[in-house]
Amino acid sequence: MCGIVGAVAERNVVEILLEGLRRLEYRGYDSAGVAILDDNNHLHRVRKTGKVQELANALEANPVRGSIGIAHTRWATHGGVTEANAHPHFSAERVAVVHNGIIENYQNLRRELTADGYHFSSDTDTETIAHQVDKELQQTNDLLSAVQTAVKKFDGAYGTVVMDKQDPGKVIVARSGSPLVIGLGIGENFIASDQLALLPVTRRFIFLEEGDVAEISRTKVSVYDQTGAQVQRKVIESDIQHDAGDKAGYRHYMLKEIHEQPVVVRNTLQGRISEHDINTEVFGVKADEILAKVKHVQIIACGTSYHSGMTARYWLEQHANVSCNIEIASEFRYRKSYVHPNSLLVTISQSGETADTLAALRLAKDLGYMASLSICNVPGSSLVRESDLAFMTMAGAEIGVASTKAFTTQLTGLLMLTAAIGKHNGMSPNQLEKMISALHTLPAKLEEALTLSQEIELLAEEFADKHHSLFLGRGDQYPIAMEGALKLKEISYIHAEAYASGELKHGPLALIDENMPVIVVAPNNELLEKLKSNVEEVRARGGIMYVFADKDANFQSDDTMRVINVPHVDQIIAPIIYTIPLQLLSYYVAVIKGTDVDQPRNLAKSVTVE
Ligand code: F6R
Repeated sequence: MCGIVGAVAERNVVEILLEGLRRLEYRGYDSAGVAILDDNNHLHRVRKTGKVQELANALEANPVRGSIGIAHTRWATHGGVTEANAHPHFSAERVAVVHNGIIENYQNLRRELTADGYHFSSDTDTETIAHQVDKELQQTNDLLSAVQTAVKKFDGAYGTVVMDKQDPGKVIVARSGSPLVIGLGIGENFIASDQLALLPVTRRFIFLEEGDVAEISRTKVSVYDQTGAQVQRKVIESDIQHDAGDKAGYRHYMLKEIHEQPVVVRNTLQGRISEHDINTEVFGVKADEILAKVKHVQIIACGTSYHSGMTARYWLEQHANVSCNIEIASEFRYRKSYVHPNSLLVTISQSGETADTLAALRLAKDLGYMASLSICNVPGSSLVRESDLAFMTMAGAEIGVASTKAFTTQLTGLLMLTAAIGKHNGMSPNQLEKMISALHTLPAKLEEALTLSQEIELLAEEFADKHHSLFLGRGDQYPIAMEGALKLKEISYIHAEAYASGELKHGPLALIDENMPVIVVAPNNELLEKLKSNVEEVRARGGIMYVFADKDANFQSDDTMRVINVPHVDQIIAPIIYTIPLQLLSYYVAVIKGTDVDQPRNLAKSVTVE
């Protein structure tokens, strides 16, 4: 989603801003722009639709230099993908603004500002910020207080950076609902929507909190909370490893991230499980006390993270003896829901900044859940900071928009949560030991599953001319079928639907013909015979199937069915292992189709708006 980078320095900041934008490209965007204040206090702006490289080319053709600047990658929400709608937005050729989020009352503000004589040159909500700040400047002539007064008028979410040509040497930043991080340099300071953007220039960061407004100059950073009081926010040294240019020899980040799964799953387990037990403190210092009381779990998430939550529901109810509900965050937040006694709210999110998930967490606090736990990949993210407990997945930075290693590390964490709750809820030492042993085998089994890569690359050829596909699974493999379908549609643009295979006869069988490949996940579990009946229903209607199956499941390849043998694993970890071939299938189909694998069209990595 939209990205922000800003810099206040002595040196020329153009290249720093461009590199920052490149590092945010993975989040998804459709246009990019930069505003630079040069040494003579002239304000320059360059904006381009398309990739950051288009912007870099434009700046190379017509170079601009300056030591203060703001830059942005836009993912259109209000107004089409045009240069005029790209950020930065100006007011009176004096104030320049970049903004992430949505100003929900922008239409009223726009009417008011137009009545005041302001002229709008874009269709965006962001332009109201620029004019509103300019309007306040007419009263105070002080940029900090102008921004502090202006933000009080905004409903919705914003992370915004404002520059005033008549007050050079500083930028003012404000955060409410969209993350911003200040990067501390020596004699220079920076701002970005994600620390990854600033790693080439600093590793020291201040994460702004909700309602914060900060003034950033070359030598000083002053932060004010929503009451206007000056506050000290913690400085964090980041040890995050990420080089945006490093695909480690792989053609795409997504492929690199698929292959990283054995290592990152091992990192997620390391130091957290012993030979036979789990260290419950990995969920937080008070975890034992809280988990001992849990009688119900409510899971909230979006997209891929929702699929890991769906899998966890099967695990929690079967092994931890607690009831569990799961809901998509955007639904949960807008309906009246029943809160079960002793219910733990679990949010799952790779980024920890997904707007709907965060809103659901905040709502849940008012609803009276016993406690909240976040399963998340980004330390210091809003979700982690606002939850009572947190489990950090150790996936490392995930750059590909399509989530892969974040998903399998979430599943690993959720299985550990099942063990941790189960321990307090009648799970026998034997059951616990079995679950922990299975977890220990995960990294090696993931390695084994990745050896299917070549076979799946060949298989992918058969999907290249298809327009629709159907994914089938049963029990805890149904969410894996859903995740497989999501991966295929988002990166190859092939329409894919997933069904619990028992549902076939209730409608989707009507779709089956030789042009509709049917992908089946078939581990050797207690539902195998039921699944086999569903496979026969497809065969009888002329369907062509691709079955990812345990060797012992006894499927045979023939004219209508291609069987791909997946390594034999303990059933509890099978959903994690069966994810791998489905990720590889989507990846290779997308490569054959020539789509933009790492940045699929219309999608954003971190969805910080509703
Ligand atoms: C799909 C994908 C998305 C995210 C969803 C939630 O590959 O990545 O569906 O899973 O946008 O994002 P997080 O997990 O950051 O809350």
